[in-house]
Amino acid sequence: MKDLLGIKVLITAGPTREPIDAVRYLSNYSSGKMGYALASVAAQRGAEVVLISGPVALDPPQGIKLISVVTARDMLKAVEENFSEVDIALCSAAVADYRPLQTSDRKLKKESDREALTTITLVENPDILATIGAQKVGGQLVIGFAAETEDLIENAQKKLRAKHADLIVANEVGQGKAFGTDDDEVVLVSQNDISRLPKLPKMKVAEAIFDKAMQLRSSLN
Ligand code: PMT
Repeated sequence: MKDLLGIKVLITAGPTREPIDAVRYLSNYSSGKMGYALASVAAQRGAEVVLISGPVALDPPQGIKLISVVTARDMLKAVEENFSEVDIALCSAAVADYRPLQTSDRKLKKESDREALTTITLVENPDILATIGAQKVGGQLVIGFAAETEDLIENAQKKLRAKHADLIVANEVGQGKAFGTDDDEVVLVSQNDISRLPKLPKMKVAEAIFDKAMQLRSSLN
C-alpha cells in the first residue's frame, strides 16, 4: 500500500544527550526503535522521510534522509529547518527536558572538581513538539508521544492541548516498558477519540499511527 505517496514526513527519534564535560552527559534509555520503525513504515508506504535522530545504535531505513543530532537544541534546529516543508511531523524522540547550565570542554576531575560535579545546575531545554505545534499551518499534522508512569490518558490529553498536537501516542514507561523494547502498548489520543491498541511490535504500532494520521489528515482537508 503506497498511501503516503507525495507526503513529506518528519520524525524525531532516540534520546538527546546533554553534555556535562568532555566525557559525561545526561540522557535517557530511548533506543530509537520506535522512531526508526515510524521512518521505515512511512518510507514503505511511499512517503518522503526526514529522520532527525539522537545518538542510537540502529541502521537507518533505506531511502530516507537522516539528520544526526546530539542535543535537544541541535534537534530543535534541525526540526525548525525542515518543518515548513512537511505534511506530517511525529515527535517520538525522548528529548531531555533539562540540560546542564555549564559544560566543560575538559574532563572534570573527581577530586579537584568535586563542587562542579556534585552541584550541576540544570536549565530548561526548548520543547520541540510545542514549538512546531504553535507554528503549524492548515493541513500540517503534528503528532507527539507521551511517556508516562501514571495517569496515562489524563497526561496525554494535557499534552495534546498544551502542545497543540493533533494526536498523542501515549505509552506507559518504567518497569521495562516501551524504552528499548521491541513491542509497545499504546493509546492513541486525539481531540475526539481515544483508541487503545494491544501490545504490538513497534512496526505494527507505527502502521496504526500512520493509519490514524491519514484519517485525521482527511478530516483536515
Ligand atoms: O526509542 P525507544 O527505545 O523505541 O522508546 C520509544 C519511546 C518510549 C522513547 C517513545 O515511545 C516515546 O514515548 N517517546 C516520547 C518520550 C518523551 O520524551 O515523552 P514526554 O512525555 O516527556 O514528552 C512528550 C512529547 O514532547 C514527546 O513527543 C517528546 O518528543 C516531546 N518533547 C519533550 C520534551 C522536549 N523538550 N521537547 C519535545 O519535543
